[in-house]
Amino acid sequence: MTRVLVLNGPNLGRLGIREPEVYGSATHDDLAAAVEKWAADLGLDAELRQTDDESTLVGWLHEAVDSRAHVALNPAAFTHYSYALRDSAAQVTHAGLVLVEVHLSNPYAREAWRHVSVIGPVATGTVAGFGLEGYRFALEAIASRV
Ligand code: DQA
Repeated sequence: MTRVLVLNGPNLGRLGIREPEVYGSATHDDLAAAVEKWAADLGLDAELRQTDDESTLVGWLHEAVDSRAHVALNPAAFTHYSYALRDSAAQVTHAGLVLVEVHLSNPYAREAWRHVSVIGPVATGTVAGFGLEGYRFALEAIASRV
């Protein structure tokens, strides 16, 4: 079965509490349940993880390469400045795996500093602005590519 790591960066564990007007009222547990259902519908073996720690995310991207797992990645604030994460994400796509960058909000409709993604240029593609549904679109994109 096609394996997918769904990886969430800093502050996304606070979904439902953090700025619900921007990120919605669903919690990270709600997202986990939705991802499980969407993955099952698509015949994917998906695992959702969240960390506030950059080095942990780097390690998970290395794991994706080594275990041949595709990735849906919401790098959260690391999107905008983490060259370490960018270099790890590049290894995923250079290995021929799909990496979809996901954002709940549309960063291009927000502050100017959110308009830059250092991940986007090395991702297979980006889904932004569709809330929780964006993760479903990312899983569908992966399922359609493999
Ligand atoms: C985010 C957008 C980022 O700018 C922000 O730092 C986040 C969440 C999103 O999902 O919309 O933490 O990645």
